[in-house]
Amino acid sequence: MTIPATLGKAPAQSPERPRTFGQTMTPWLWLVLVVVLFAGGLFGYDQGVISGALRGIKSTFTLSPLLIEVVTSWVTLGALFGSLAGGELADQVGRKPTVLIAGVMFTLGAVVQAFAPDTLILVAGRLVVGAGVGVAAVAAPLYAAELAPTAVRGRFVSCYQLAITIGIFLAYLVDGWLSKSGAWRMMLGASAVPGLLLFAVALAAPRSPRWLMMMGRRPEAAAELRKVSPGADVEPPLDAIAKVLRQEGARASWGEVFHREWRRPLAIGVGLAVFQQITGINAIIYYADQIFSSAGFTTPAAQTTVTTWAIGAVNVLATLIAIAFIDRLGRRKLLLAGLIGMGISLIAVGVAFQFIVTDAAAGAAAATGPSAAGVVTLFALVGFIICFAFSMGPVVWTVINEVFPGHIRGRAVAVATAVNWGSAFLVSQFFLSVIGAIGNSLTFWLFALFCGVSWIWIYFCVPETKGQSLEQIQQLWMEPGK
Ligand code: BGC
Repeated sequence: MTIPATLGKAPAQSPERPRTFGQTMTPWLWLVLVVVLFAGGLFGYDQGVISGALRGIKSTFTLSPLLIEVVTSWVTLGALFGSLAGGELADQVGRKPTVLIAGVMFTLGAVVQAFAPDTLILVAGRLVVGAGVGVAAVAAPLYAAELAPTAVRGRFVSCYQLAITIGIFLAYLVDGWLSKSGAWRMMLGASAVPGLLLFAVALAAPRSPRWLMMMGRRPEAAAELRKVSPGADVEPPLDAIAKVLRQEGARASWGEVFHREWRRPLAIGVGLAVFQQITGINAIIYYADQIFSSAGFTTPAAQTTVTTWAIGAVNVLATLIAIAFIDRLGRRKLLLAGLIGMGISLIAVGVAFQFIVTDAAAGAAAATGPSAAGVVTLFALVGFIICFAFSMGPVVWTVINEVFPGHIRGRAVAVATAVNWGSAFLVSQFFLSVIGAIGNSLTFWLFALFCGVSWIWIYFCVPETKGQSLEQIQQLWMEPGK
């Protein structure tokens, strides 16, 4: 069971302007934020790093196209199982210990990959890191949401997505620095250091008072709450948490997660999770170098530079747009506008590829440098990333974390997260095969088609949740005809 993260305050949205970070943050809360930033950053790094590491791996081991896809995408497969386990672990052993477990997995997986003597061990390392990513993807936002005071809760969760994009960007930078020497072992192993740091910071960070209350450990919960809200009377919020616990009863069963009553929020959470992936983001994040290579950026240095700045840096900066506007413009406007931009960009990439002569077997450019069509591809992909970063990236995670009623939230979020990783796995696993079968242009047009389908589905099925308390959102599913 997840207890609404309102710390017992009135659930309705406060009309006052949100307090600044500086006004609300205590040293303990900064520690929580650092945990969230490390967890999100590692998530992004371990996803993004493979794009530049592939070239070196291919020169060390002989890899068939299928094995290239396996090495690339099995982080996602590990994340799928990791996120399901993460929901369970977070409820059973607590939010903070689950983040610690993720830290251990990040470190262990990084070391295994760095020293892998063959492809099998490399893939095993990718799976371990992936499981860490999945565990962190469920536990870290949950931990943040339960420890953050209401006034800064939205920003805490948004910082998680920002950290993911920073992690991807850093991975590209590291790839760029190391691409000349082809030091892929160092690229993959580098995340052992932040993995250890995540472990150390999380060890010192406070525990979730809500989880402690769930376990019937009120005095410990009070002590943790006093750390994050020094000087505040912690008894009223603890009473409110206890009241919710009494109303909702014990943690809901898996059956309740799939109960008819919650069919709509489940469809929304799962639907958004699927559409976030099948509109193509990770095909671009993972295979950016190869797409740019096909588009005429022939040298490895040119490819990594363009990937770092056009994809990595733009992704970070455009996420700030969402942080600024998500509570003002609302979720739907951002999602619908973003999808239009993503669709147009993908159509343009497909058109550009009509004019790019490629050597399909090798996936290398026949042209000697970026042609006009290659430059169009570059601009279109930048457009795609900007539109994703202010819409389907952060907004999808926000909505997934707010649509479910408290007593099923932990498990339902884990289901949506696992479905998200499952979809990411399918896309990254089969992206190169699909290109081989139907060509570059049709593949990008297929992603564009999914943007269209997603737009229509969101327009008709996803209600606006801006400015509503979690309890008000829960009421939406109970009103007849809704
Ligand atoms: C998605 C990831 C993606 C990342 C890119 C996240 O919201 O879940 O799959 O790689 O955004 O910024």
